[in-house]
Amino acid sequence: MKIKPVNSYNEMSKLAAEIVARKIKDKPNAVLGLATGSTPLGMYRELISMYKEGKLDFSKVRTFNLDEYLGLPPSHPQSYSYYMHENFFKHVNIKKENIHIPSGNAPNPTQECLKYERQIEEIGGIDLQILGIGVNGHVGFNEPDINLKALTHIIQLADETVKANSRFFKNIDEVPKMAITMGMGTIMRSKQIILLAWGLEKKEAVIKAITGPITTKVPASLLQLHKDVTLIIDKRIYEKLKEDRK
Ligand code: F6R
Repeated sequence: MKIKPVNSYNEMSKLAAEIVARKIKDKPNAVLGLATGSTPLGMYRELISMYKEGKLDFSKVRTFNLDEYLGLPPSHPQSYSYYMHENFFKHVNIKKENIHIPSGNAPNPTQECLKYERQIEEIGGIDLQILGIGVNGHVGFNEPDINLKALTHIIQLADETVKANSRFFKNIDEVPKMAITMGMGTIMRSKQIILLAWGLEKKEAVIKAITGPITTKVPASLLQLHKDVTLIIDKRIYEKLKEDRK
């Protein structure tokens, strides 16, 4: 794991956007795995700026999002589909047919998971996966448990996740309790991964992910087994990590 400590949210966002931009320049039809939530918003803003300045072309880029709430249609303002369009896709020249997000209102969610996994496989896998991390160590919506599923699947969200994500909804009861998520196997098969973490509330999860035992109780700890992971993390978390290692 490569660790890049950063002093600010902006520095994290810029660094992440540079890695994405480099990938697209090397491979114009790169397959990107994308995340939602607060963490990557700055990175999307940076990528949009690069596009507007004529430095980046998304016309051949293909994308697969990590997850989507079950039961929310793409038109719902809290769906991840809506988030992606509002915060990124509508501002760049990505082609609609190259965007993939699991459908939260598919008539048969199990079939939707199988279809999504097949699409990722058929395209040749993900070249660069962007990840955030939950306060409980989840990646995508792979929640801590005694076992994890490898492939795209339906998952019940952990109470901590429902609570953390309730900040986007009018009240906690409106937060969907189920989601579709790529599995840890889907994520681990990505050729390159960057994980972003900003804010001290992520401290424990990040430290466990980096230095703790590899355990399904901290899904992000499985990333220790991947050969090309870059962690762009809050310097304050990094300092704590160094202290613990003394
Ligand atoms: C989002 C996702 C989640 C988030 C994580 C952190 O698509 O898969 O794993 O990355 O919950 O969320 P934020 O960035 O809002 O703290």
